[in-house]
Amino acid sequence: MQKIKENRVKSETVLSKGMFHNLFPDNLVLMPQLNEVYELALAYYESKILTETELVQNGAYFARVGNQFTHHYLMCMGESLRLPQHSSSRLKSFFEKNQFRTGYASHGLFPYRGKFHPQMIKALINVMGLKPGDTVLDPMMGSGTVPVEASLMGVKSIGLDASPFCRFMSQVKYDAFSLPIHPLDQALKNTEKIFELFSYATGRSDSGSKNDKAFNKVTEIGILEFITGSGSSLADQMADFIGTDKSEVLDFLLLAYFDSVGYSERSKRKSPFTLFQAILERYIFVVKKIQHVLQNSNSNIAASKILLGDARAIELEDQCIGGIIFSPPYSFAINYLENDAFHLNSMGVNMDQLKNKMVGLRGKTLKEKYKLYIEDIARVLSECARVLKPDCFCTIIIGTNDNQLSKALGIPKEQVKGLHKIIIDLASNHGLSPMRTLSRQISGMANTMRNEYIVILQRKDA
Ligand SMILES: C[S@@+](CC[C@H](N)C(=O)[O-])C[C@H]1O[C@@H](n2cnc3c(N)ncnc32)[C@H](O)[C@@H]1O
Repeated sequence: MQKIKENRVKSETVLSKGMFHNLFPDNLVLMPQLNEVYELALAYYESKILTETELVQNGAYFARVGNQFTHHYLMCMGESLRLPQHSSSRLKSFFEKNQFRTGYASHGLFPYRGKFHPQMIKALINVMGLKPGDTVLDPMMGSGTVPVEASLMGVKSIGLDASPFCRFMSQVKYDAFSLPIHPLDQALKNTEKIFELFSYATGRSDSGSKNDKAFNKVTEIGILEFITGSGSSLADQMADFIGTDKSEVLDFLLLAYFDSVGYSERSKRKSPFTLFQAILERYIFVVKKIQHVLQNSNSNIAASKILLGDARAIELEDQCIGGIIFSPPYSFAINYLENDAFHLNSMGVNMDQLKNKMVGLRGKTLKEKYKLYIEDIARVLSECARVLKPDCFCTIIIGTNDNQLSKALGIPKEQVKGLHKIIIDLASNHGLSPMRTLSRQISGMANTMRNEYIVILQRKDA
């Protein structure tokens, strides 16, 4: 029988040094606001896996290594997001509390529901052993957190999403690193005109009435083509105000416009134009801040391919990817199409066709939706295993809602297995073996999920 350790350590000896002293070398200082167990675990893995130079350059959860501030700490310091004065105190405190987690670089440009904490993604890229020059894939990138964060770390990336709006938004966030500043300043001086042009193109006026003629044209060909298409006078008119017809700049302004229309529909407190002014000012502040940080740190932004695609049939060769991170739609809790209906309609997207491709939206009854969801997720996992190099990692962040699953399956809540366990079982059918699971509570602004699991799988060939 194993001998039980009898010697007690004195309280004084334990308390005088503290827990961190035992976990981390003395020269590592943790990031402020780190207060969750999964964050401490990721910090611990980073401290074990990365060299000190790598911690300074790419670490997510350390503020200092010796006397040197880390790149992540410097990037997050200062005012995080210039929120409009009329923002609710709840929103302000959310961003203050999450200064190091989410409100940095270009991540805060569009409030996308179900978005990852970029700081967590940075740590996962590190603990999966990805280094500058390697390639990470997110086959369901949503607002592009993985490609944007990887690029900041010098890691190449491929991001896919079935939704054209997600592709558009992610590209804007990536392009923000290199946008010319002068046209943006010009745009801020001409907000009224720019807002009018977008309103015309999307068939809306400030008063909310519809300009059907323009709108019908837009829904046929999509707003981007409508604005920038050959022979279009809209791009020329825009260029008169901002001095360029560069599509990256127009797309950036359009995202701010979409943001303001969406926000005004949700809050109803301010007119879309008032919001557009405030949002555009904030967007431009974000671009200037990150470009300033990047110039001062001599960082190289890694290339990213941001594409429209279907995670169930990934158009990539076998074994070409060094790591995968993604989060599937939270079973059927969030209807991404309804959330983005205005933007998608304005982009000329056929909503019925898109719905058929969206994991979690196929099917009529809850039971049928669940069956199709599981079928689709199995296809996604099989594709992930196929494109991943042997021994590399695939991390899936899974929100689970036992109440909803119990309804879908018609069984008591206590008997529900949990979506993360269902997905782990499906993954093992495709040679993806569980390596480590971390859990975290969701503390976002408005959430129907209570728990989320970070499931790290490794591709092991039989
Ligand atoms: C939970 S969200 C991902 C959010 C993302 N992690 C982020 O940080 O913004 C899931 C995404 O899966 C996308 N999606 C749904 N079905 C898809 C499919 N068949 N192929 C690719 N993407 C899909 C949705 O459009 C949605 O953006």
